[in-house]
Amino acid sequence: MTTYQIAVLVGSLRRESINRKLAEAVTRLAPATLQFHFVALDQLPMYNGDLEGNRPDAVNRFVAECSRADGVLFVTPEYNRSLPAVLKNAIDWGSKPMDKNVWRDKPVASTGTTPGAIGTCAAQLHLRQVMGCLSASFLGGEAYVTMKPGLIADDGNVSDEGTRNFLKAYMERFASFVAKLAQK
Ligand code: FNR
Repeated sequence: MTTYQIAVLVGSLRRESINRKLAEAVTRLAPATLQFHFVALDQLPMYNGDLEGNRPDAVNRFVAECSRADGVLFVTPEYNRSLPAVLKNAIDWGSKPMDKNVWRDKPVASTGTTPGAIGTCAAQLHLRQVMGCLSASFLGGEAYVTMKPGLIADDGNVSDEGTRNFLKAYMERFASFVAKLAQK
């Protein structure tokens, strides 16, 4: 079985982040061909061109982890109808210098959750716009999740059958998308 390494970027640094919980739950729903690795964003400084040429270790680690991944899964909250700065900052680091843009042709998918009614739709649409400009290959379709109490059960699994099946189908589509685009 050919396996693919997927970098998971969670757009929240909060210890009790519902997006981190969702990320862990969806990785369990994915086919075994996908192997997930959560990439830390909390040590990344804010992007500053003055640091180019002598990039901090945390930036080099982040870029290397994203670069060697066969695909990227974003799981993000929505902040003020957009993606959180922590995620945008990470994307910005990966995009520079332009000839080393790690996102180019990278298979990408996204999901995200909020207690709000539109389930991070606005954030993910902005994310799609940003990744489009960076020439990433974004999976079609959408996966917006409105968080309800108990939706992620104490065992870490998605408790609602409809939501579980929906997310499982999304991850199956992501797995075949990655397999189609990966040069293995
Ligand atoms: C939010 N939240 C929020 N929710 C939403 O549905 N649409 C929005 O535009 C915003 N805006 C927003 C801005 C800021 C600065 C914060 C801190 C929060 C609420 C947000 O969805 C909620 O706090 C989630 O629980 C955040 O996800 P994590 O950190 O639990 O993963």
